[in-house]
Amino acid sequence: MSMLESVTRGFTDHFNRLPDVISKAPGRVNLIGEHTDYNDGFVLPAAIDFFTLVAVSARDDNLIEVVALDYAEQDDRFWVDESYRDHPTQMWSNYVRAVVRTLVDRGHQLKGCNLVVSGNVPQGAGLSSSASLEVAIAQAVLTVADIQLPFTELALIGQAAENNYVGCACGIMDQLVSAGGKQGHALLIDCRSLKTTPILMPPELSIVIINSGVKRGLVDSEYNLRREQCAEAAKFFNQTALREVTKEDFFAAADQLSDVVRKRAQHVIEENERTLKAAEALATNNVAFLSQLMAESHISMRDLFQITTPEIDLLVAALDKELGNEGGVRMTGGGFGGCIVALMPKQKLSIVAPILADYQLKTGLIAIPFICTPEQGASLVSLEG
Ligand code: GLA
Repeated sequence: MSMLESVTRGFTDHFNRLPDVISKAPGRVNLIGEHTDYNDGFVLPAAIDFFTLVAVSARDDNLIEVVALDYAEQDDRFWVDESYRDHPTQMWSNYVRAVVRTLVDRGHQLKGCNLVVSGNVPQGAGLSSSASLEVAIAQAVLTVADIQLPFTELALIGQAAENNYVGCACGIMDQLVSAGGKQGHALLIDCRSLKTTPILMPPELSIVIINSGVKRGLVDSEYNLRREQCAEAAKFFNQTALREVTKEDFFAAADQLSDVVRKRAQHVIEENERTLKAAEALATNNVAFLSQLMAESHISMRDLFQITTPEIDLLVAALDKELGNEGGVRMTGGGFGGCIVALMPKQKLSIVAPILADYQLKTGLIAIPFICTPEQGASLVSLEG
């Protein structure tokens, strides 16, 4: 049974009727531009073929009732206009509560509705399962209230929900590409203006995501600490964000910063430049240059931003060695575990299995590869479709 069929059946079983519509939003992989989004910089992610689906129908009262199919039909109920509080035990429903609350904060007149959620975005792997849930929920509850918003607004709502209620100080990248991704393309995002430029993915390059099997630890505390260090560096240069600091100004004064803050700022400033170059390299199918930029990005995350782990470094090095300049590889996402991403020609795919076998021997970890395609961002699926 497809996910679409199972979410429809789950809805019908639970609410004794068909849903009005199904809201769909993808996870994402970031090709390059890590920890640059909250510095007003550039990122180059793609939406991928892993999704959260939310089946929805309107109610005639103001209650929101939501069921999670993937968690043995755990459910939650709350009034549209009640104040936010964490659910006592169900972490997943905090995202639903937070998105609804954020929409109400912004003055949207929502209606009560029934929702059934299901998804296949791997969780805790750094592929943005939470952003895809936020975007899919926002689109679902807005649709039953007859409200249409541009995708940038959907993304800002998801981000605000996470920042203000769930308590993670994330940037805009994940929600923006989940809401506004373009099929067959990566999205170059200017995180200051929110302008997005689709970059065609060369069809001969496969996107291979490998979940390293390293559980992401200390994510929130380390993430928020990196944000503070970047803000401290921007302040030193009298700027609102590191995006505004030129490489020349940075290197002229870098020795006045503490060692840690200098490293963090150098990563961000150089990563912004690499991301723009990578978008150009992808657009012109210059794989050798892309390969070099992805390798530099990984080294910078390892040595300057210090967010990789020894196992992930090992995996990236093994793939890099086999790919040479025919493909690129780096860790992707917030760091401290999770996934790596490789761009490689189809005829190179056979290198992956032996590398993962060797990785398991050396680390005891089972790494799981996925070959992904670049997908369209959030959409509504009609039941006839
Ligand atoms: C997480 C955050 C994003 C971004 C990345 C790092 O995925 O949610 O906003 O900061 O980490 O690039």
